[in-house]
Amino acid sequence: MTDVSTAEDKRLVIVRPVCELQGRTARMEEVLSSTVDRLRSEGVQVTVVAMASELQRISLAGEHVLFAICLSEAGVNMEYYRLLEYFRQHPDCLEGAVGGIIVDGSSELFTKALARRLAFSANMAGCLFPGKPLVEATGSLHNFDVLSMVRDVPSMEVYKQQVEELARKLIDFKWPQGEERLRVLAVHASSRGTSNTLLLWDKVRSYLEDRADITEISLRNGSMIDCRGCRYEECLHFGENDGCFYGGIMTEQVYPAIINCDALVMICPNYNDAIGANLTAFINRLTAIFRTHDFSKKRIYALVVSGYSGSDIVAEQVIGAINFNKAFIMPGHFCLTETAHEPRSILKVPDIDRKAARFAQIIR
Ligand SMILES: Cc1cc2nc3c(=O)[nH]c(=O)nc-3n(C[C@H](O)[C@H](O)[C@H](O)COP(=O)(O)O)c2cc1C
Repeated sequence: MTDVSTAEDKRLVIVRPVCELQGRTARMEEVLSSTVDRLRSEGVQVTVVAMASELQRISLAGEHVLFAICLSEAGVNMEYYRLLEYFRQHPDCLEGAVGGIIVDGSSELFTKALARRLAFSANMAGCLFPGKPLVEATGSLHNFDVLSMVRDVPSMEVYKQQVEELARKLIDFKWPQGEERLRVLAVHASSRGTSNTLLLWDKVRSYLEDRADITEISLRNGSMIDCRGCRYEECLHFGENDGCFYGGIMTEQVYPAIINCDALVMICPNYNDAIGANLTAFINRLTAIFRTHDFSKKRIYALVVSGYSGSDIVAEQVIGAINFNKAFIMPGHFCLTETAHEPRSILKVPDIDRKAARFAQIIR
């Protein structure tokens, strides 16, 4: 099909929950208005939503949505919580939407955590996030120091550039075209036969097999070594040769599989409210090939099982590492979360087959 869309067809909705402290909003307003003026001059329709209550009459489904959150001196925005409430109460309200996030803080803290939380809740309501969907401005803007040096412009200018680049990324986003059969890579570090999370994956897998070629890699204890933290130049050098200082299963099996896959499924039991150590090492060691390969067309999915609670914060770690940092696309409803404690008890969770089948359909 020919793409006949023109600038006039292009739309952007800026969801900018009102921040009561007027003095705090000036910086983000300045940055936003420079992007909005330019987009409007090109014919892009820009709508601004400031209150969660407006979402009763303005639908975000199918839209390009830029969430722009300004934080008070204490790192809070009360209207942001009303937005979260709305998304959690309306689980389809962002179906088909493509989202990006700006967080402008007044200190060095709270910006990233708030963005991950927003991304998780919006994603549960159907919002897709392209890779690297976050522009963060800490109070000092020091987080832009490296880019400021590389681009040879002041930090405030980097902030403006990044916001404009993000807005354009949302407006121009297209689902990547691929081969007919999906190539899926699943990574885990669990014991087959007893791990609830791995049993859940077995179910999901059974619903995927007719349309996907699936590679499964086990990163068990002994096979994984964490990142050594080489200097940038060293890491780049190894990455250019599809390698890493340590070699082993990562370079022999995982790197080729990552380079070849369309979709990555991370199988994450909740270990102390975190992704387990082997999978964390897997993420850290992706850095070498991330520097030399484009991951921006690949998709991330996750299965998270907790014995008691906390699956949301494990899912948020995956979002921060793989979507915010490593630039994978996070499709709507990217994560299936369940609670099961006793070995194999996942099999007794009500409706588990239907949930696994529905999740398999989301993987594409
Ligand atoms: C080392 C370890 C730490 C754990 N920490 C938590 C935790 O912080 N919160 C929780 O809800 N469950 C915790 N669990 C329980 C697992 O999340 C639970 O067994 C779940 O079924 C997923 O693990 P599995 O896939 O290995 O079965 C922990 C389990 C292990 C082995």
